[in-house]
Amino acid sequence: MSGFPTVRPRRLRSTPALRRLVAETRLHPAELVLPVFVREGAGAPVPISSMPGVVQHTTDTLKGAVADAAAAGIGGIMLFGVPEHKDAEGSGATDPDGILNLATRVAVAEAGDALVVQTDLCLDEFTDHGHCGVLDAAGAVDNDATLVRYRDMALAQAEAGSQLLGLSGMMDGQVAAIRDALDTAGRSDVALLAYSGKYASAFYGPFREAVQSSLQGDRRTYQLDAANRREGVREAMLDVAEGADVVMVKPAMSYLDVLADTAAASPVPVWAYQVSGEYAMIEAAAAHGWIDRRRAIEESVLGIRRAGADAVLTYWATELAGWIR
Ligand code: PBG
Repeated sequence: MSGFPTVRPRRLRSTPALRRLVAETRLHPAELVLPVFVREGAGAPVPISSMPGVVQHTTDTLKGAVADAAAAGIGGIMLFGVPEHKDAEGSGATDPDGILNLATRVAVAEAGDALVVQTDLCLDEFTDHGHCGVLDAAGAVDNDATLVRYRDMALAQAEAGSQLLGLSGMMDGQVAAIRDALDTAGRSDVALLAYSGKYASAFYGPFREAVQSSLQGDRRTYQLDAANRREGVREAMLDVAEGADVVMVKPAMSYLDVLADTAAASPVPVWAYQVSGEYAMIEAAAAHGWIDRRRAIEESVLGIRRAGADAVLTYWATELAGWIR
């Protein structure tokens, strides 16, 4: 009969089994990474009010989080330290007994070969001014002086047993500087995850509470401008040339175009970070009953994967892995 379609894409959507068979993208626990906060001196886990369900762990409860993550089969954890004392240089970052290095040793002992223990390599959690680097006399973030600190931080993290360093500070040349420091120290085994396309974003809001950031102002002089797509790819290509083993785009959901472009251009794995504000938005809407929590979580992570992420850092990693296993 004329006027009716001869092409019917709905045919392949007609049953759950057909939909499952033709799905172009699948979620697997191994491609999920859980960010974990560990707070120095905490006697019990401390809830983060803007991230319901996420806590600052003690070094003791960290063990349980690692065990749960391993049991769920996720690919790794990314550790962030919350120190009791901060100073202008962020000295806790390079102290072998600083909270992040301490937590790394605990996590590595607990994880064994079950998952990859990764660490945030940035000074912002450790500085009293809250910036990702050290400041010059005029109060600006001093790129090259910061690289000196990052080199030391990398060695401390490698020594603590971190297998993949997450370079999130957005200093120019940080990948090359850290690679050189590690190789010179005989640690060519330690891999580098470059937060290459890291944008100055409002969606980091809840993270600031999570790490008790003391930042005044913003990070616009070093993180990327939300308007720029090409520049995100350029940063990733620079990091690949400097020796990054993995590159990342962050945040995820507002930057899926940058992620897709980076995935098309990159010869190394491309990851994405579904950040604290993305988590908080979905949790808040779900708590109001405005969206279906589980479906929204699955759809959001699937969208990030579909756009080109090989792996996703998400605060739902362990829970999501339990659903999709
Ligand atoms: C920097 C860092 C930040 C996040 C991860 N690493 C904060 C920032 O750059 O302002 C944010 C992660 C999130 O919001 O979930 N150490």
